[in-house]
Amino acid sequence: MSKKLNLPVRPRRNRQNEAIRSLVRETCLLPADLIYPLFVHDKKQDEKIASMPGCKRWSLEGLVRETGEACEAGVKAVVLFPAIDESLKTSDAKECHNAGGLVPRAVGALKKAYPDMAVITDVALDPYNSDGHDGLVVEDDQGQAGILNDETVQVLCQQALCHARAGADVVSPSDMMDGRVGEIRNALDEEGFEEVLIMSYTAKYASAYYGPFRGALESEPKAGDKKTYQMDPANWREALREAELDVMEGADIIMVKPAGPYLDVIRALRETLELPMAAYQVSGEYLMIKSAAEGGWIDEEAVMMESLLGIKRAGADMILTYFAKTAAKCLSAKC
Ligand code: PBG
Repeated sequence: MSKKLNLPVRPRRNRQNEAIRSLVRETCLLPADLIYPLFVHDKKQDEKIASMPGCKRWSLEGLVRETGEACEAGVKAVVLFPAIDESLKTSDAKECHNAGGLVPRAVGALKKAYPDMAVITDVALDPYNSDGHDGLVVEDDQGQAGILNDETVQVLCQQALCHARAGADVVSPSDMMDGRVGEIRNALDEEGFEEVLIMSYTAKYASAYYGPFRGALESEPKAGDKKTYQMDPANWREALREAELDVMEGADIIMVKPAGPYLDVIRALRETLELPMAAYQVSGEYLMIKSAAEGGWIDEEAVMMESLLGIKRAGADMILTYFAKTAAKCLSAKC
């Protein structure tokens, strides 16, 4: 017995075929929305990263080649993370502002090969710090380690200047020290780098999803954790507070990190602020998709795309993702 329902409103009408679905589609992901994080080291050979299948620590030559392939697929920005030799790590992290260091050389090589590509650098001490922390570490009388805020900010300013002098288009402080955006802005402007953008890690959470990344750089903190500077995963109002400060201090782009488990934070910031917003799909989010797909449990391409679309739908304008090159290729193939 079939009885027609009296239904003037039938949402399924808008889903009946791909042509209609693409007309009513609300969110669209483009290759140019993606920022490609790349690891670089000071060796001649590229090296696979055990904790991040599909990612490598690139030699300078490999870095330029990989960037070229991403560019070909429509990606317009890369962000660099250096794996620094143990022998160069010190408790004052001074290698982070060495003009002849790995990052300035990598920036120089990339800007020479691809002048139109936006080169973003990470500003934080952890790859250079023998303590493995993003800031300078001091021990109090009881032997408890603490992170020095204001002293760290001075070093971060030198690091940002070093990257700007090498030709970086965007510097991206990921350290979560208080007041660093304003101080970096001042330092850049004083040296005539008014055009260099600051992409601030506004709401960076003390997340367990960073594990595979720290494996890639061997940058685990030697003692303690990052909870006195990175945010508590339980908080979202605090993200608004951080964002207000970043706006006042002159950030050009704000960021939420990780992305997938913090979509509500992305949405809250989108509803409150006008600034462009990035979200970072971090190493743990990447690895979960990769390993489930390697086990044959999920369709890698479909889940990759859905995860990125979800981040964009939540309100991010751009996404840092280890899938950038692969996702951009899929997107260009469909256009
Ligand atoms: C450190 C930094 C981290 C990441 C980017 N910059 C790790 C951390 O804060 O411990 C994580 C990125 C990822 O997991 O993909 N300044």
